[in-house]
Amino acid sequence: MLINREIREKLDDIFYVLKLKNRSSQVSLDKTVKIEQILAYMEIIHSEIRKSSKKKKTVIVDSGAGNCYLSLLAYYFYEKIEQRNIEIHCIDYNKKLMESKRKLARDMGFTNMYFHASDIVNFTLDKPVDMVYSLHACDTATDKTMHLGIRCNAKTILSVACCQSSLKLKSNSLKSITRHKAFRDKTLMMIADSLRAILLEKSGYKVDIFDFVSSRYTDKNTMVRAIKKGFKQNIDHDEEYKKVSTEFRIKPYLEELLADAI
Ligand SMILES: C[S@@+](CC[C@H](N)C(=O)[O-])C[C@H]1O[C@@H](n2cnc3c(N)ncnc32)[C@H](O)[C@@H]1O
Repeated sequence: MLINREIREKLDDIFYVLKLKNRSSQVSLDKTVKIEQILAYMEIIHSEIRKSSKKKKTVIVDSGAGNCYLSLLAYYFYEKIEQRNIEIHCIDYNKKLMESKRKLARDMGFTNMYFHASDIVNFTLDKPVDMVYSLHACDTATDKTMHLGIRCNAKTILSVACCQSSLKLKSNSLKSITRHKAFRDKTLMMIADSLRAILLEKSGYKVDIFDFVSSRYTDKNTMVRAIKKGFKQNIDHDEEYKKVSTEFRIKPYLEELLADAI
């Protein structure tokens, strides 16, 4: 465990500021769930970031950042606890949210945190990026996050999808499974993320998919982790992609974004 009990106690200060905890220790279930989600996500972020030198600036992009809890926690952890040279960019097309979080970060003295009111698809950064991540970015925002990571040549891309409302499962062979709503959502997520994984692999990333936190804290707990590696895979990505996409009649938006780039 990288974020051990001692570090968790130190992180309480940021949870008070974010109003996820209060000094009376009475925390609502919603807030407990959010704290556990972002701490578990932080573990995965840190398992990659800790591999690079503390002196070298680490540049991170949070895509579909919303209330920015995860990135405010990450910034606090790296600057105050790890004493690492860190720069974090949060993107969300909700202008009001970005303004209020910019003010909060300024009040906290988080001078290397930047907030961009923009669609992910239009965001660019003219410097090397170490990591692009998203947590529960809605629908195609997951595809836009992966595309942003590929465009920035990010060393690591992390993504946990939320709703997949623009995708529908139309496969006849799965009807007996997908008539159960719980299975429909899970099956759709498995197929969509597997197709995205093939596209990420084709773009030079090594991909693994796993549950990053217990489903007690969210049923949307599947993380896609992609790490840039100069390696060859013995798989015909185009053929694999076509096979799965045709069988289940699903095309994640990432396919279109990557095709546009050619
Ligand atoms: C469900 S919230 C998750 C927020 C945060 N990451 C979290 O875990 O609490 C999704 C956020 O993604 C933003 N979003 C969705 N699509 C986007 C896009 N294409 N460009 C920028 N922001 C987007 C929404 O405005 C919303 O704030």
